[in-house]
Amino acid sequence: MKRQVSILFTYYEYDSIEDLEKDDRFLTEGAIEAARNAYAPYSHYYVGAAVRLESGMMLSGTNVENAAFPSGICAERNVVANAVSNHRNDRIEAIAIAALTSAGLIEDPVTPCGNCRQVLTEEEVRNGNKIKIILTGVRKIIVIEGVENILPLRFNSGNLKATLPLQ
Ligand code: THU
Repeated sequence: MKRQVSILFTYYEYDSIEDLEKDDRFLTEGAIEAARNAYAPYSHYYVGAAVRLESGMMLSGTNVENAAFPSGICAERNVVANAVSNHRNDRIEAIAIAALTSAGLIEDPVTPCGNCRQVLTEEEVRNGNKIKIILTGVRKIIVIEGVENILPLRFNSGNLKATLPLQ
């Protein structure tokens, strides 16, 4: 037996930041502001990420690069680490991501890398709520309602339930 399975993925596009809901606009502005402080002396690709917690609190982070390239870390993982370290039980409701180059805000929205999708997955699964992802660019803003949409068939804590040592 063979079955074809399709996963439908719907997302939203906005023409500009002004078209977003007020809270999401504020978060996006936070991400852009954060990007200005990014430490990216090697790639010159300055990324900012801002999360809104259930309490309404906003936290932000940037990419932090390193001369030993793999030791660098993305903005998304930095802000999630901050949220989990300091506000473990205040669920992440939304994350906005923005990137700047010497030409200003990038034209097409930046999308999170695979590692960051996996880290966001941990939070989405742990907290049992969808995390809204807001990706900013000059040309358009993309809004994705839930991390699972961009990491389908994801590995998560459910896969590790009831694991025991091999006999
Ligand atoms: N980067 C992020 O911080 N977030 C992304 O979503 C994409 C990539 C960083 C990693 C590195 O410092 C630079 O951007 C270029 O890859």
